[in-house]
Amino acid sequence: MPTLWRNARIACLDQADRVFQSGAVITQEGRIAWVGGESELPAGLRPDRIVELAGRWLTPGLIDCHTHLVFAGQRAAEFARRTAGESYGDIARAGGGILSSMRATRSATVDELVEQSRPRLRSLTREGVTAVEIKSGYGLDLESEARMLQAAHELGAEYPVTLTTSLLAAHALPPEFDGRADDYIEILCTQWLPDLVGRKPGAGNMKSLVSAVDAYCEDIAFSAEQCDRLFSAARALGLPVRMHAEQLSNVGGSLVAARHGALSCDHLEYANERDVQALAASGTVAVMLPIAFYALAEEQRPPIALLRRHGVPLAVASDCNPGSAPTASLLLALNMARRLFGLTSAEVLQGATRNAARALGLGNELGSIEPGMAADFAVWSIDTLDEIGYWAGFNPCSMVVKSGQIELERPV
Ligand code: NIG
Ligand code: FE
Repeated sequence: MPTLWRNARIACLDQADRVFQSGAVITQEGRIAWVGGESELPAGLRPDRIVELAGRWLTPGLIDCHTHLVFAGQRAAEFARRTAGESYGDIARAGGGILSSMRATRSATVDELVEQSRPRLRSLTREGVTAVEIKSGYGLDLESEARMLQAAHELGAEYPVTLTTSLLAAHALPPEFDGRADDYIEILCTQWLPDLVGRKPGAGNMKSLVSAVDAYCEDIAFSAEQCDRLFSAARALGLPVRMHAEQLSNVGGSLVAARHGALSCDHLEYANERDVQALAASGTVAVMLPIAFYALAEEQRPPIALLRRHGVPLAVASDCNPGSAPTASLLLALNMARRLFGLTSAEVLQGATRNAARALGLGNELGSIEPGMAADFAVWSIDTLDEIGYWAGFNPCSMVVKSGQIELERPV
């Protein structure tokens, strides 16, 4: 049942970065079967369906590889305090921040979490996002973390997205463990991880509730040594790891991430050359989160020149969360990555497609338009690819295709 998508300008985002000014894609059974110039279309092709794209740009579906989009409540009052001069760290140390979202999230049912989080995922999908990572980390007790992950899976099943989940129980120290961070890490390693890995999101669903383990390595969160122990336990269970590192200070998280071959290391504002070299050697993707940088009014930028020089693959993500990134827009993150961090349009496009796929361990499946990959794409009403990350607060996505099906068409 082949479908021919024709008369498109196509950015393949494959290794050769092929672009077709007058191109076509053939999809079959949810995958890309062929891509090339209109003039090279295979002879004798008898498509069941032809979709005319009238010269619009076609890219791989976008991938938001770092979100905390499942949570209850909001923290607008903290934003007001921060705009009046208080710091994120001070609010966290006084029991607000992540712990404030923990209190709201612990008192929510799975249905309530789904209900409250749905608008955020819906907003991402309208921007051409066809794959998303969602973290736990606001439950901070076993059953509340499980409810967050369950809510993520239920939302993922409602929308045309590929979902991956990360257990971020090492996000903040829950009050039950006050002064006993090592004990908390020990319980994560010996009890929560093995338990949650064994749980499924539903009868007949072969996925595990958890696809990776994340940690927040920071002086207001967990030490490098604690993250190291957690990552060893995760890897012993066959789970890949990712890390929030060097966001507000440098406490050695990147080196731990690199040592464990982390899929990604995220934030990195305070990373130094040694960190960058280690990430390059371990093939870890550096995920830029410019909305958090902006919303916290940070001044230290990630070392983009070093990351480029050492060839670390760059991704860009929304970081959607109620504290440091109250957003549900990956496009805004791409704009900020360009304006605030100086990334190019090519870098942000790679960062939201093939490099983001790699950050999720899905680089062989998603993130580029080439035969064999999932037929996930976004169609854009733009004149030039430079408009990706140029518009701020405007969404030029006019069609979203997931597994070869048109899931959304909207006038731009
Ligand atoms: O990625 N840095 C840690 N975690 C989030 C913020 C979480 C929150 O403040 O609720 C982040 O920025
Ligand atoms: Fe985050």
